[in-house]
Amino acid sequence: MNSHSIVSDRSQPLKLLAISGSLRQTSSNTALLKAAQQLVPEHITLKLYDGLGDLPHFNPDIEFDSLRAVAQLKANVEWADGLIVSTPEYAHGLPGSLKNVLDWLVGGHEFYQKPVAFFHLNAQRGQYARAQLREVVKTMSGEIIEEACLILPVSKALSIEEITNNKEYCGLIQNAIKTFELAIKKEKTSLA
Ligand SMILES: Cc1cc2nc3c(=O)[nH]c(=O)nc-3n(C[C@H](O)[C@H](O)[C@H](O)COP(=O)(O)O)c2cc1C
Repeated sequence: MNSHSIVSDRSQPLKLLAISGSLRQTSSNTALLKAAQQLVPEHITLKLYDGLGDLPHFNPDIEFDSLRAVAQLKANVEWADGLIVSTPEYAHGLPGSLKNVLDWLVGGHEFYQKPVAFFHLNAQRGQYARAQLREVVKTMSGEIIEEACLILPVSKALSIEEITNNKEYCGLIQNAIKTFELAIKKEKTSLA
């Protein structure tokens, strides 16, 4: 199967899990992921992870399956064919809540070699958090799909509607998702 036939095969469903590193009610990172949710074609399910605020602090002494929130996180990651992560930066670092999510996934089979794309806003800011996120995901053997990573060229926070009403932003998001889909399906085909 060549790459073209993989792109055009829209009958194959794809499951994506989006994780926002922000707990803010009006988070621009969450808005970006929710906009992407509205822009995916029908055969793609993009689920937004909503357990960030419920996860206990990571403690390697705790058996994860005794904790509902952790078991739910792992089940969501296992379910997904690929992950899309979007994060703010706090004091030149990753938000503790997002690092906590990743810490719970370290060493588990759910995250290992999982295709990951980063969707971000504003190239001028957040470079430390983005670099840290990349390093952590690489160290955890996540499969970063570089060509599917996106930084939306905006310098202010946007609502979901401000993103979905903008043709340029919609095009960039849809193109990144299509590229992500192609990379994931190509990888699955080569493993089959
Ligand atoms: C406590 C705090 C610290 C921040 N530190 C940084 C920083 O070091 N670098 C940066 O680029 N932005 C920083 N910001 C700005 C946020 O990263 C930015 O507003 C981001 O878009 C918020 O994402 P959200 O809308 O998804 O919550 C900080 C914001 C807060 C509240």
